Amino acid sequence: MKKTIDKLYETHNLDKDEFLYILKNFDTRSGEYLFEKSRQTALKHFGNSIYTRGLIEFTNYCKNNCYYCGISSSNLHAERYRLSADEILACCKTGYRLGYRTFVLQGGEDFFYSDDDIIDIIEKIKAGYSDCAVTLSIGERSHESYKRYFKAGADRYLLRHETSDEEHYKKLHPKSLSLSNRKQCLYNLKEIGFQVGTGFMIGSPYQTIENIAEDLIFIKEFSPEMVGMGPFIPHRDTIFADEPAGSLELTLLLIGIVRLLLPSSLIPSTTALGTINSNGREKGILAGANVVMPNLSPVSVRKKYSLYDNKICTGEEAAECSNCLQNRMKSIGYKLVVDRGDYKASDRH
Ligand code: SAM
Ligand code: FES
Repeated sequence: MKKTIDKLYETHNLDKDEFLYILKNFDTRSGEYLFEKSRQTALKHFGNSIYTRGLIEFTNYCKNNCYYCGISSSNLHAERYRLSADEILACCKTGYRLGYRTFVLQGGEDFFYSDDDIIDIIEKIKAGYSDCAVTLSIGERSHESYKRYFKAGADRYLLRHETSDEEHYKKLHPKSLSLSNRKQCLYNLKEIGFQVGTGFMIGSPYQTIENIAEDLIFIKEFSPEMVGMGPFIPHRDTIFADEPAGSLELTLLLIGIVRLLLPSSLIPSTTALGTINSNGREKGILAGANVVMPNLSPVSVRKKYSLYDNKICTGEEAAECSNCLQNRMKSIGYKLVVDRGDYKASDRH
C-alpha cells in the first residue's frame, strides 16, 4: 500500500488497478500515511489558509428530477422560493462585511431566470464588489449562455459530473438527462475560460468501487480547477429515501487521493461532510481540503433548500456560521482568510 501511495504522491497519477487497490485495501494505518502526504501537499500550496465561498442558494425551483435530490421537480412537498436580484445583492453585502470575496450563486435548473436576468445579477455583483469572484452553479445550459455569463464577469462554474459511468448515470437520473451532455457542458465551460469545478457524491445508490476508480480517472484527465466531493445523504421525499448515506471514511480517502492527483486544486470540505459527522469539515481539511462554503442565503429560505435530510447550518445567521467556522478551523490550526482564492495556474501539475 505504501508503495502505491508513494507513487501517487510522486507522479500525481495512478492507473485503474492501482486506484482499485487503494480503495479496496485502505485501513487506518494506510490512512495515516496517505493523509499525512495529502495534508502536507495542501499546506505546501495554501499554508494554513482556508478559502471561503459565500453560498447563495437563490432558487430551489428545478426542471429536473435527479432521483437523489430533495429539490427535484417531482418533490411536491418542497416549498419553492426564488430570490430577487436585490435579495441576492443583500446577501453579498452581508458576505462582503464578513470577509467573503467569492460568491457562489447556486440553484436548481430554473429557467424562470433568463440569461439576461443571470447576466444582470452577475453585472450588479461585479459592479458593487469588483474585488470579488462570482461562481455559478446553475446546471446545464447552452455554450452560448455560458459564454454570455463569462463575458458578463462570472469567473468560475461548478458542475459535478456526478458519475463517469453511463449505466450508473442512468440509475441516478431520468432519461431527459445524459452523461454526455453533462460532460459536454464541462468541456464548453473550460474552453470558454471559466475556472471549472466538477466532482461527485460518495456512496450514491448503485455506486461501485469501479465507478469511483473511473471517476478518479475522469477527474485527472479533465483536470478541473476545483473538485467537489461530499457524501450522498438520503432525502425523505425521494425514491432513495431508504438508501444508506455515503461514509465519512471513504469521503476523506477520496479528498486525500484527489489532493495528491491534482495538488493545487481547490477542494471544499463540504456541508454534507459536516452533516454526516459533527467534525466532518475539520476532518476534510485535515485530509487535504482547503475551501469551505458557508451559507449566505437568508435564514428564511435555508430550510427550503433541502437537498438531503438534516442539513446543518440552516438555522443560523450568516455571521454565526462565519464565526463558528473560524473557530472550528482555529481548533485544528487553520484560519479562514479574506481572499478571492483563485486557482493558481502556475502551480498546475
Ligand atoms: N442544479 C445545479 C447542478 O445540478 O449542478 C446545482 C445544484 S445541485 C443541488 C448541487 C449538487 O448537490 C449536485 O451536483 C449533487 O452532487 C448535490 N446533491 C444533490 N442531492 C444530494 C444528496 N441527496 N446528497 C448529497 N449531495 C446531493
Ligand atoms: Fe435540479 Fe437537484 S434535481 S437541483
